[in-house]
Amino acid sequence: MNQDDLKRAVAVAAIEYVPFDCIVGVGTGSTANFFIDELAKIRHKIRGAVASSEASAKRLKGHGIEVLSLNDAGDLQVYVDGADEITRHLHMIKGGGGALTREKIVAAASRKFICLCDESKLVDVLGKFPLPIEVIPMARSSVARQLVLLGGQPALREGYTTDNGNLILDVHGLQIMNPVELESTLDHIAGVVTNGLFARRGADVLLLGTSAGVKTMTV
Ligand code: A5P
Repeated sequence: MNQDDLKRAVAVAAIEYVPFDCIVGVGTGSTANFFIDELAKIRHKIRGAVASSEASAKRLKGHGIEVLSLNDAGDLQVYVDGADEITRHLHMIKGGGGALTREKIVAAASRKFICLCDESKLVDVLGKFPLPIEVIPMARSSVARQLVLLGGQPALREGYTTDNGNLILDVHGLQIMNPVELESTLDHIAGVVTNGLFARRGADVLLLGTSAGVKTMTV
């Protein structure tokens, strides 16, 4: 099985977690794309979706799935998304695709977060994957200096603007032993919109694609 087969397998398994007649929160990235394709097969059983990015909204609409704004949808029963790294405590790094802010908003408004990963994403300690941080453009340098003081090596994601018109700093060299604490610390830096640690509100269920099948993990 290659990585795409594993992503497809977890996307198929995630459909079990989509309640009848609900509005589904939908993440962003290659794994979320597989989920959107599976969701299309049951589109007559759901009311619609709230997307965490313009790219996911476009894919959902392309499948004939109605896309609602979070303001119109209200709180959601379930949010389904991938991650760049995840621990056994279901703390994550997200934002490799740059959609971290909307992902965190939709996840926060959802009762359950179902995370879909292939086995390469499961780690003991977060931080090998550079931590994405969305920043207001005028604060780029001042935020970068604060990140250096915290022990990171921030790099501007060149030529990239988020759906919200901001920049991304990818922070290398972190070994994140306490993700809940670091998530709060980073949120308190002036100019940071969102950081890619999803630890205070981690996932509720991890569907992990392995060569031996889909494993379900909870905390
Ligand atoms: C998007 O901003 C990210 O948070 C993605 O959910 C995450 O990067 C996983 O993406 P892949 O499924 O493409 O690895």
